Amino acid sequence: TEHTLILIKPDAYRRGLVGEILARCERKGYVISALSVVEATPDQLEAHYAEHVAKHFYADLARYMMSSPLVAAVITGEQVVAGVRCLTGGTQPTQADPGTIRGDYGRDWGSGTVENVIHASDSPASAEREIAIWFPELVR
Ligand code: GTP
Ligand code: MG
Repeated sequence: TEHTLILIKPDAYRRGLVGEILARCERKGYVISALSVVEATPDQLEAHYAEHVAKHFYADLARYMMSSPLVAAVITGEQVVAGVRCLTGGTQPTQADPGTIRGDYGRDWGSGTVENVIHASDSPASAEREIAIWFPELVR
């Protein structure tokens, strides 16, 4: 069994989609192992999105991720990293498949801002790194 890290992003938190997104993970058979409502700090986001810090959209991304509280969760199960990425769908809300979380709830705004509802770790190594950022008490 494996762990993954999801962030239910601020847009989803504000829209009352926390229960729906957690329910989709649970219905798939995965277990919620840790759960927390947090206001992300600039340092946490720079660590979490280290691969994107230098990109042109980072300021927009950081503003989005700090626009309200978000929910961090550790989800556990067999092949859960790949499984939750499937539930999540593609990065761009307009192109994400219907039936996926982003396909059903994500929004593109004309300004180029993407509100894609959820983050999910893209590999077991990423999951381990990201769990340490959002749940340091679990790793100590
Ligand atoms: P995450 O699960 O959030 O990591 O998404 P992902 O793995 O599908 O996408 P990626 O890691 O490439 O990008 C991380 C996040 O940056 C995305 O989920 C978006 O929120 C944001 N992002 C990516 N590309 C763009 C962009 O071109 N413009 C804006 N505004 N945000 C972007
Ligand atoms: Mg990513």
